[in-house]
Parts: sequence; structure tokens; C-alpha cells
Amino acid sequence: MAFLDMQGVSYTYPGWPPVVQRVDWDITQGEFHCLVGRSGCGKTTLLKLAAGLLQPDEGQVSLQGQAVRQPGPGTGFVFQAPTLLDWLTVLDNVLLPVTLQRQPTAQDVARAEQLLAQMGLVAHAGHYPRQLSGGQQSRVAIARALVLEPPILLMDEPFAALDAITREELQDELQAMCRARGTSVFFVTHDIAEAVYLADRVAVMEGGRIRHDIRVELPRSRTQDVRYSAAFNALCAELRRAMDMDEEVAA
Ligand SMILES: Nc1ncnc2c1ncn2[C@@H]1O[C@H](COP(=O)(O)OP(=O)(O)O)[C@@H](O)[C@H]1O
Ligand SMILES: [Mg+2]
Repeated sequence: MAFLDMQGVSYTYPGWPPVVQRVDWDITQGEFHCLVGRSGCGKTTLLKLAAGLLQPDEGQVSLQGQAVRQPGPGTGFVFQAPTLLDWLTVLDNVLLPVTLQRQPTAQDVARAEQLLAQMGLVAHAGHYPRQLSGGQQSRVAIARALVLEPPILLMDEPFAALDAITREELQDELQAMCRARGTSVFFVTHDIAEAVYLADRVAVMEGGRIRHDIRVELPRSRTQDVRYSAAFNALCAELRRAMDMDEEVAA
């Protein structure tokens, strides 16, 4: 059964041409889906529609059978920049989604500390964001998105600003955290290898539409060795061809 379900979703910013056009996409519980496409093709807008940050002009978005009308605790969102609050410690940044609703309980604090431990950040719990590297800040943003244990995580190019090695480490950590919790993920990226490494299924978007739907049948859990396999490289080439085909159509 579809867990996050988008049916015939369209969106237009007032006074502009349509940005998302009749998109159908569904995510099964516990699956990792990537969304790739060139800059400006509508990826961020589609993710905001999935989150309830925007309302579609046409079509429906539902999460666990309920229409999504506003952002809710069932959805964690990670933006391209870590967007941490400078004046809060790492631990308080992770607890922010709780604090915005109520006084954190001992259980909330324990959960936040456990997330920081899984991301190798225990020693930094009392530090401030400016004392962390870019990769560490991204880890804090992921921990914050998971603190309310949302069943789905929406991520908008969260690793785009990081160096290649840090990005690969974070891909492994994210994969492990989400599999351990059964979290579904919808992850936007420019990076073809990142999409193939992480995804069970990849959507290729161009001009506001999903043009290709590619299944990634590589075994789980994936480790860095996968990157050197023939199957991995064949899938990267397939995805690349799909994107180039769209460029020819668009040109
Ligand atoms: N708030 C906005 N108002 C008007 N146009 C917008 C707004 N946000 C994005 N757009 C336009 O919508 C298109 C898709 O943007 P976006 O969803 O951010 O694409 P992507 O994330 O794939 O780069 C772009 O042409 C962009 O200029
Ligand atoms: Mg974007």
C-alpha cells in the first residue's frame, strides 16, 4: 500500500508558468526514493507539496491515507543548508521540534542523545553550531529531523555542499538510521551516484513532470564496495541516459 501518495499533483506560483504538472508518485513504507533532475525543474516545489508546505492546485497528497493539508509531526524535513540556530547548543537544536510543541521530557532528551550518539556527536552535545564542521552540522540537522520519529523524511539536497568523502559517510549513516527505524525517505539530489547508492527507486523530473521511474535492485545494506560493481555503474549510466534524453526533448 502507498504510504505517501501523490496523485495528479499540479502547482503554479501565481503569475508564472506551471512548475509541477500532474505528478503521480507513491512511496511504500520503509522505502528510500530519490528525485533527480536539473536545477529549476520543480524538485523543491514537489517536496514542499509532499510536506504540506504548499497546497496543490490540482490533485491530492496523502500520508498514511490522510490528506496532507499542512506540515505535521509525521514528516521530517531536511533542507539544503543545515539551518541550525546559532544560539542553541547542538542538543537543544536537535530538541527544537519538541520544544516548539512542549517542554521536552527526560525521554525526549534521551532520544536526542541517542541520535547524537549514532551520528558520532556525543562529545559535541554542549557545543554551538559554529564549533562544528559542515558535515557535523548536517548530522545535527538529520538528528533534529528524526527526533519526533516521523515515519517519513523529506530531504532537499542535504549533502550538496559537502566534500565527497563526508557525503559518502553521511549517505551510509543516513541509510543505517532510516533502515533501523523503518523510516521512508524522499530525497532530492543532483548527484547520480548518490541517487543510485541510496535509492530503491529513482524519479527523474524534467519540466515539472516525472519522466522516468527507475528501480534500483542492488542488495541492502549497501556498502562502499557497491560503488565499484558493474551493476552499480550500469544503473548510473542508465540514469544518466534518462536525464540526457530529457534534455534533448526539452531543447
Ligand atoms: N516562490 C516562487 N515564486 C515564483 N517562482 C518560483 C518560486 N519558487 C520557485 N520558483 C520557480 O519554479 C521553478 C522550479 O523551482 P524549484 O522547485 O525550486 O526547482 P528545483 O528545486 O528543481 O531547482 C523555477 O523556475 C523557479 O524559478
Ligand atoms: Mg531545489
